[in-house]
Amino acid sequence: MRALLLVILGLAIGAVGATSALSALRQGTPFHKGVMAVMDHHIDALRADMRANTCEAKTVATHLDRLRETARDVRPAFGTDMDAGFGQAADRLSTSLDEAVAAAPASCAALSTALRPVGEACQSCHRQYR
Ligand code: HEC
Repeated sequence: MRALLLVILGLAIGAVGATSALSALRQGTPFHKGVMAVMDHHIDALRADMRANTCEAKTVATHLDRLRETARDVRPAFGTDMDAGFGQAADRLSTSLDEAVAAAPASCAALSTALRPVGEACQSCHRQYR
């Protein structure tokens, strides 16, 4: 009985600890910064591949997929207080990534071409809203 109580107590303390650790994490990295950081990571990985001239189709496709999926979180991440132009800028990024995924680049040259509109979509939103 005593052992059981100790186990339950341990679980309760663990749960409280996990909850406060989670909320601390959330304060440190708000959703919108997380979304940007994830996209930045995948763009960086692709740029590194281009620099090293190792643009393997499967790896490239994985990063482009992750970029495309994450770009869909840009709107929800910034909430409803952004104006219509922001939504359009987010859509522009999504469209450029749809096209990049569809192009299925299998060489560094093809990847560079596919990424150009993506980089422009990042920059044009940053110029206006960052
Ligand atoms: C629709 C608008 C929009 C698009 C598109 C966009 N961003 Fe951002 N990004 C922002 C805004 C706004 C901020 C500033 C957020 C802040 O500091 O709170 C930002 C900040 C960032 C940051 C800094 C994050 C930090 O922790 O301060 C990085 C890195 C970033 N973006 C990368 C990217 C990349 C890479 C892309 C393209 C794949 C991209 N962004 C596309 C709006 C956008």
